[in-house]
Amino acid sequence: MTIQIFDDVRALSAELAAGVRAAVTAKPSLVLGLPTGRTPLPFYHALREGPAADWSQVRTFNLDEFVGVAASAPESYRAYMQRELFGPVGVPAAHVEFLDGRAGDLEAECERYERAIAAAGGIDMMILGIGTNGHIGFNEPGPYLHARSHRAHLQPGTRQANAAMFGGDAARVPEAALSMGMATILEARAVVLMATGVAKAGVVQAMADGHITTSLPASFLQLHPNVTVMLDREAASRR
Ligand code: F6R
Repeated sequence: MTIQIFDDVRALSAELAAGVRAAVTAKPSLVLGLPTGRTPLPFYHALREGPAADWSQVRTFNLDEFVGVAASAPESYRAYMQRELFGPVGVPAAHVEFLDGRAGDLEAECERYERAIAAAGGIDMMILGIGTNGHIGFNEPGPYLHARSHRAHLQPGTRQANAAMFGGDAARVPEAALSMGMATILEARAVVLMATGVAKAGVVQAMADGHITTSLPASFLQLHPNVTVMLDREAASRR
């Protein structure tokens, strides 16, 4: 793992945005894996506000989506991405791939997603956040992990962390989501994990320096040959 520490979130986000822009320039048909949540918001802001790049050929696969939430609902991760990135920078809707949390057959939907990733030639750059419990995507800690896209049961802390999108009410956050699996993530050619704020300091330390364990799914990133961990000073404060 290459660990990069930045003075603040702004510097981190500007650097990652510059890296993504450079990757899009080098490969206009770049395939990106993307996260939602609070951490990437300043990064998406930096992509919107910084120098323009040509996003017309870029393809995107988001990590996860809530089960039972329509793509058109404001609480959906699909709507979040449209607001925060796809609309402003101009990613064509036909190039945006999402797990459909309202699919009739969720298992078939997960299989479709895996096939779509393979048909796109795999993910060039997977950008991740990390939960305070060590989840990436919605691969939650437990006795085992899923290799492929799957229906994930969200832990209470994860639902609480997502409450803001549901009017601050954790009870309204769905109990399940569809998520890429660990192999889906680890097969990306490059992985970038962003973590900011003191609340992530402990999990970042365990992810980077601890054992590889299903109790901390992000620890499996230690097995990947091309991982960059981008931290602000607070998230790096336990290392
Ligand atoms: C969201 C996702 C999650 C988040 C994680 C951190 O698409 O994949 O793994 O990255 O829950 O969320 P924040 O950034 O809100 O702390």
